[in-house]
Amino acid sequence: MYTQSLDLPRSHQEPVPTTVDGPDAAHQAAFDAKLAADGKIEPQDWMPAAYRKTLVRQISQHAHSEIIGMQPEGNWISRAPSLKRKAILLAKVQDEGGHGLYLYAAAETLGVSRDELVDALHKGKAKYSSIFNYPTLTWADVGVIGWLVDGAAIMNQIPLCRCSYGPYARAMIRICKEESFHQRQGFDALLAMMRGTDAQREMVQDAVNRWWFPVLMMFGPPDAASTNSAQTMAWGIKRISNDDLRQKFVDATVEQAKVLGVTLPDPGLRWNEERGHYDYSPLDWDEFWRVINGDGPCNRERLATRVKAHDDGAWVREAALAHAAKRAAREAGAERAAA
Ligand SMILES: [Fe+2]
Ligand SMILES: [Fe+2]
Repeated sequence: MYTQSLDLPRSHQEPVPTTVDGPDAAHQAAFDAKLAADGKIEPQDWMPAAYRKTLVRQISQHAHSEIIGMQPEGNWISRAPSLKRKAILLAKVQDEGGHGLYLYAAAETLGVSRDELVDALHKGKAKYSSIFNYPTLTWADVGVIGWLVDGAAIMNQIPLCRCSYGPYARAMIRICKEESFHQRQGFDALLAMMRGTDAQREMVQDAVNRWWFPVLMMFGPPDAASTNSAQTMAWGIKRISNDDLRQKFVDATVEQAKVLGVTLPDPGLRWNEERGHYDYSPLDWDEFWRVINGDGPCNRERLATRVKAHDDGAWVREAALAHAAKRAAREAGAERAAA
């Protein structure tokens, strides 16, 4: 996963109130002192309404991204080239489902219900990472998702392990460990293909060409356009800016591409001695906004698949509720008998 769309300019999201009511001034002071001391805010603690609302939005968008993110790769489980690759991919896609569940649970500690959050996703009101609206055309796409998409996710998520909200930070620790496995398995699958035939190498290069720029956009709009960054950084939710994370990712990935033997499809990519970083070409932010706002190559398909999966699973939820009701009735009967 996949935190890219979490820090959108205000014009792209619902307004967040920022005023502090008079009677809450003492609470606000305690909250500020805790943040200043790098302490964790826990669910039972007082927190500003805007902090709570921002976290609900960020954590739920993150959860949605994990769940929607199961689709592009799930598409290849039945067509993996070997038993080993199939077992790895199954485990990876299941991990993403698990990430979604931890994150929905973390969001629920802020006083929202999972039903509300899922409903917002299904109605197209909630956002998720734009990257999952691109298609997986070949097996090489699965490797590239692991290498680049999970790689970018790790860059984004490691700083979230130090997020000021305790349940989110703790969820991220385990998620990041699993994301490292995802990145490694992707790199390993690509390395195997690069050591194979010319056709396999071409397939990898084609996938890298299609994914490179959308992956760089996963870090979100440039800092100059991220109007909420200053506030989320002051709250200790975000620790490193979009552009700084993107630069760290580019610098690390160029070296990995050399090991793989693939070319990154940006003619503007070159080492800048003065900055001590790689320069890269400007990104197509019009494409980013188009995709994040619903008009990417696979948005409709992803949402329709998600809604169908939810509807098809209705019987499981009903059965679980019926079972819980039966058990409660049995326990109440046993208590009556004992009394
Ligand atoms: Fe994940
Ligand atoms: Fe992952």
